[in-house]
Amino acid sequence: MYRIAVIPGDGTGPEVVAEGMKALEKAASLYSIQFEFKEFDFGGERYLRTGEVLPENAVEELRSFSAIYLGAIGHPDVKPGILEKGILLNLRFSLDQYINLRPVKLYPNVETPLANKKPEDIDFVVVRENTEGLYAGIGGFLKKGTADEVAIQEMINTRKGVERCVRYAFEYTKRRNKKRKLTLCAKTNVLTYAHDLWDRVFHQVAEEYPDIEADYAHVDAITMWMVKNPEWFDVIVTTNMFGDIITDLGAMVQGGMGIAAGGNINPEGVSMFEPIGGSAPKYTGKNMINPMASISAAQMMLDVLGEEKASASLEKAIVAALAELEDMAAGKMGFTTSEVGDLVVQAIE
Ligand code: IPM
Ligand code: MN
Repeated sequence: MYRIAVIPGDGTGPEVVAEGMKALEKAASLYSIQFEFKEFDFGGERYLRTGEVLPENAVEELRSFSAIYLGAIGHPDVKPGILEKGILLNLRFSLDQYINLRPVKLYPNVETPLANKKPEDIDFVVVRENTEGLYAGIGGFLKKGTADEVAIQEMINTRKGVERCVRYAFEYTKRRNKKRKLTLCAKTNVLTYAHDLWDRVFHQVAEEYPDIEADYAHVDAITMWMVKNPEWFDVIVTTNMFGDIITDLGAMVQGGMGIAAGGNINPEGVSMFEPIGGSAPKYTGKNMINPMASISAAQMMLDVLGEEKASASLEKAIVAALAELEDMAAGKMGFTTSEVGDLVVQAIE
C-alpha cells in the first residue's frame, strides 16, 4: 500500500491532478496496488489566506509518505518567487530530491515543431541536478538600490552533489538500455572551475561503465543539437540551471507543456512528481486544460515506486488516448480535461 501526498496547488493544478488520480486508481485496481491519498492545500490561496507558505511541520509530515503528487504552484496575486521558493524549491531541497528527471519523448499523433522528426527521433531523458548550482540561494546585495549596487548569487557545486547526480545518470542509462549513451551538458570552456569538477567526476564515474558511451556537449551547442539532431541523445546529465532551461526546450520539442512531466527524485527517500507546465490561471476552472502531463507524472510515479507493469500499461493508455486528441493545446483537444482523463482510464488494461 502506498500513501500518496497530493498537493493539487494553484490554477489548473487541481483539475489535472484529479485526472491523474483517476488513472492511478484504475491502474491500482488492475495491478493489485493500493493507494491512500491525502490532500494538502499548499499553494497561493492558502498563502493569501494565512500568510503562511508551508506550515511548520509540513516537511516532516511529507517525509512519511511513499511519494508526493503535485499539480502546479504559482498564483497571479502572489509576487513571483514566494511560492516557487517557499513550496516547490523548499520541498525539493528539504526532501533532498537531488534528481530532476525529465523525459523528452514524442508520442505518435503528437505534433512536434521540428520538421521531419518522428517519434523514433525524439526519445531522450534529461537528468537535471536538483539541489545545488545556481539554485542554492546563496548570495546577497551590497548597497542595494544605489548606483553602486552589487548583487551576488553563487553557484554551488559539491563533489558529493555532482557525483551522486552523475552516478544516478549512468545507472539510469544502463537500466534504460537504449543507445547506452550519456551526454554531459555543461560549459567547461568558460566555467573552468565549477564545470571542471563536473567533467572530472563524469569521466571518473564513466570508467565504471565501459559499455556506456560518455559524450559531452556545451549547453549552448546542445540547444542547437536538440533542435537539429534530437536523435543523437539518449540520456543527458546536467546542472540545475542548465537543466531548467534545456528541459523547457525539450518540452516544446515533445509537443508542449501539455505533455511534459517531471520527477523530483530522492532515490533513498520521498520523491515528488509534477507536470512541468505552470498553473495556467487563464484556463482555471474551465475544464479545458490538457491533463496529459499530469497523467504522465503519475505514470512516472508508478515507475519510480517500482510498479513497472502498471506504469507500462498506463503509458500505453496515454499513447492510445493521445491518438484521439485533435490538438494538444488547451481548448483545442476536441475533449474536455475530464474527458481526456476518461479516455486514458478506459484504455488502461
Ligand atoms: C521548473 C520550474 C521551477 C524551476 C521554478 C518554478 C522555480 O521552472 O520546475 O522547471 O526553475 O525549477
Ligand atoms: Mn523550469
